[in-house]
Amino acid sequence: MADKIAKLSIDNKELDLPIYSGTLGPDVVDINQLAKENVLTFDPGYMSTASCESQITFIDGDAGILLYRGYPIDQLAEKCNYLEVCYLLLNGELPNPEQKKQFEHTITYHTMVHAQLSNFLNGFRRDAHPMAIMVGVVGALSAFYHDSLDINNPKDRETSAYRLISKMPTIAAMCHKYSIGQPYMYPQNHMNYSENFMHMMFATPAERYEPNPTLVRAMDRILILHADHEQNASTSTVRMAGSTGANPFACISAGIGALWGPAHGGANEAALNMLLEIGDESRINEYIKKAKDKNDPFRLMGFGHRVYKNYDPRAKIMRETCHEVLKVVEGHDNPVFKLAMKLEKIALEDDYFIEKKLYPNVDFYSGITLSALGIPTNMFTVIFALARTIGWISHWNEMIGDPNRRLCRPRQLYTGPTQRDVPHLEKRN
Ligand code: CMC
Repeated sequence: MADKIAKLSIDNKELDLPIYSGTLGPDVVDINQLAKENVLTFDPGYMSTASCESQITFIDGDAGILLYRGYPIDQLAEKCNYLEVCYLLLNGELPNPEQKKQFEHTITYHTMVHAQLSNFLNGFRRDAHPMAIMVGVVGALSAFYHDSLDINNPKDRETSAYRLISKMPTIAAMCHKYSIGQPYMYPQNHMNYSENFMHMMFATPAERYEPNPTLVRAMDRILILHADHEQNASTSTVRMAGSTGANPFACISAGIGALWGPAHGGANEAALNMLLEIGDESRINEYIKKAKDKNDPFRLMGFGHRVYKNYDPRAKIMRETCHEVLKVVEGHDNPVFKLAMKLEKIALEDDYFIEKKLYPNVDFYSGITLSALGIPTNMFTVIFALARTIGWISHWNEMIGDPNRRLCRPRQLYTGPTQRDVPHLEKRN
């Protein structure tokens, strides 16, 4: 139902465009009728486009607020574990104790992957980037789990969601073990989700592995902070692929591909590499200068965000978590963390960053934290993908469950040649 009307005049024709209000956030103008008038809107990068209606996650970028189903991210990170957050994102409400127990049991008992999958991994080079393996293996899950691929059946959608949430840590850890030539570790059903993931990453059959509770909690928090972020590039990719009716494993694989880029999920790897390259506080100003130079492609990685024009609320929690982890792992004196804090301070006081409202985002501290947890750099984005799987699948499920679902098919402003005839080969120069 339209709350207000926007008036648009094209060639003296007046159009009434309905304006809708959500529960929070900016109003949207419904431009659906424009195509019939043979006019389109032009919005490269979708800066002013609400691509769908959603009830899952809300961001107020100016105020630095992030809500999952209405709950602030800092409260969720403090009071819930990752699987409770998964339940919330998928179902809309936090689980009660019985629902929590049941959900944890269901997820735990789906963590094993088909044994044939290890043969599939063997086809990759040992030095393959784990994200390349993830894109392939997750897409290939559709060849292993035929029994839950009817996307119009809510029960099948639920089973696929459970399989994806459960198997992602197993697959992520397998990618790591494959690249370092160690045997895969089976999931352990007595462990919780994050504990089990760390076990599959770091244990070997030769030695007992006891994950440190502070480090397990930090891993769980990293997963919570990355679980969803409304219509970001990878989630929009999942929705776009899903709108064609493609199966969920294929859609999530498309999302993993989109996440890989340095402007999105690849930023945590890039941020840590940048800090290592800077190396010393004495070189910070040189890099700040490079970041401000229009003729230099260098950007301060882990800084800036399309939506946040204030401190990313996830970055605050990530900085605290980073501090807690470093205390356990190496005492208080981690030089990269000190360098990061100094760089953050200098940038936040610099006119360029103030004017453009560039603040640290979640990835500024997540790389240092992951590294302190013993995660190799090339696995950072894989862990982001693991965490974001619940967001992707929740959005996919919301979209498929919508009776008004349409194929996502944008148009364009065409600026190529006008129609012309194909010349014979000898007449082409
Ligand atoms: N360092 C220096 N200048 C920057 C930076 C940065 N990190 N980010 C933006 N700017 C400048 C940019 O040059 C532009 O200046 P001007 O208006 O003079 O042309 C202005 O700020 C606006 O930037 P933009 O590229 O138009 O903004 P955007 O919304 O398209 O880009 C971004 C957002 C995240 C891609 C960008 O800030 C960036 O490249 N940051 C570094 C990469 C990064 O940390 N990405 C992780 C994002 S958070 C994780 C996730 O959600 O996936």
